[in-house]
Amino acid sequence: MDAIKVKNLPCTESVAIVIFGITGDLSHRKLIPALYENAKSNHLPQPFYIIGFARRPWDDQKMREVLSQAIRDFARTQPVDEKVLNQLVERTHYIESAFQDRAGYTQLSKLLSDLGIKNTLFYLATPPSEYADIVEKIGQSDLEFCPGGWRRIVVEKPFGHDLKSAQLLDESLHAVFHENQIYRMDHYLGKETVQNILAFRFGNGIFEPLWNRNNIDHIQITMAESEGVGTRAGYYDRAGVVRDVFQNHLLQLLSLTAMEAPAVFSAKAVRDEKVKVLNSISDIKGKSAIKNTFRAQYVSGTINGERVPSYRDEANVDPGSITETFMAARLFVNNWRWAGVPFYLRSGKRLPKRVTEIAIQFTQIPLTLFDQPNLAGDAPNVLVLHIQPDEGITLFLGAKVPGGAMHIEPVEMRFSYAETFGDSHPDAYERLLLDCLQGDATLFNRSDEVMEAWRLTQGIIDAWESQGLENLPVYEAGTQGPHGADDFIMRHNRRWRKIK
Ligand code: BG6
Repeated sequence: MDAIKVKNLPCTESVAIVIFGITGDLSHRKLIPALYENAKSNHLPQPFYIIGFARRPWDDQKMREVLSQAIRDFARTQPVDEKVLNQLVERTHYIESAFQDRAGYTQLSKLLSDLGIKNTLFYLATPPSEYADIVEKIGQSDLEFCPGGWRRIVVEKPFGHDLKSAQLLDESLHAVFHENQIYRMDHYLGKETVQNILAFRFGNGIFEPLWNRNNIDHIQITMAESEGVGTRAGYYDRAGVVRDVFQNHLLQLLSLTAMEAPAVFSAKAVRDEKVKVLNSISDIKGKSAIKNTFRAQYVSGTINGERVPSYRDEANVDPGSITETFMAARLFVNNWRWAGVPFYLRSGKRLPKRVTEIAIQFTQIPLTLFDQPNLAGDAPNVLVLHIQPDEGITLFLGAKVPGGAMHIEPVEMRFSYAETFGDSHPDAYERLLLDCLQGDATLFNRSDEVMEAWRLTQGIIDAWESQGLENLPVYEAGTQGPHGADDFIMRHNRRWRKIK
């Protein structure tokens, strides 16, 4: 993968990032610390301005104080370099305005022109309900275009609540911006280990001949979290796992695992290949969606020695909620490479550990030489891409245990990121912010990709809604998940990998 470098930006031209909703959590925890890290490693174009736009009655001074604190609290590299921090925050400005108020945008336009800024990145870090209004006002104020410079917009997830609202949001965006100005964020694509899926697959020759239906029995993609819904229940109770992570992170991981090699490493070629994967996934709706998915909700249990409440008892969750906090799905990519190979996807809150991994389960040997059945286990060869934590790759093999008898045990060959490269690598937002400043959309979702992902997700949502359940299966927090999910995969003689 390319090292991060500022490619297209003349470093002498001013650039501004305008953050709508700068007073919120995303800005403080992610965006501002990421900009600081980029400034510290000299990757930001100069001069670089941060313009905050939000409703709170702040002024420039107040914003500088809050941003400085955010950097001190959340910067990845500590202790903070005060000189870099001061240089970054001294070029910040705040516009106090409602998102619907034209006057705020007029003020923004004047500020950009007073500062002589042509290149501007708009960042939507507000609740999604504000997106369409902001985009419309940007258009009405002619801010989407600047002769001799560039204007781009970053849209955070969730991109819509369902297929219809995603289409409407897309229409609002396209009414003002060209597709090549729009950067739809999925922070999973900024993770080093997610990008490494491509490097691993297309930078090495030895795996490609095995990477298909002839040698792979099935693929398991797991995104487990030990956290509950925290303070986000208002959003989560309307979303569930299916909207929160299946529609985006899980389907992205699947696309990268299953895609063909792009002809070149360009945004168009990579995204063309990813979207082909989503196009090839058979429609999953109605009875087929019910048969090929499983959902459940957590009840109280113990995680890391701490008692945690049931989902229905969390603050701001409807006590009769049937929102799923766990889901599993079985999908098929209907092309020549993958026909007949199931992709099992699962994700849940309040599982024992935060683990994201992709496990490629190779087929069993054709005949056992050593005994019956294969002493190395019924599934000896698994290649696991550890996305987080303990980032790395493990290949499981059967090996003879020293001694007189032919005992075979599973052993591991492991590559660890931390051991090889050290354990401090850029956060996803550091990488993704630089990419949009540089105009590289490879790691952002294109319109057709998002719509395809929603097409699949909508089929599942509709099927679940028409099921009219009053209660969902449950699982105890801190356990491996619902028993029903084990039965779900066992039906086809497979087992989930343990979350550990
Ligand atoms: C977000 C989801 O997109 O991803 C959260 O909305 C989830 O519910 C988070 O916790 C997980 O991200 P990460 O980077 O911690 O794996």
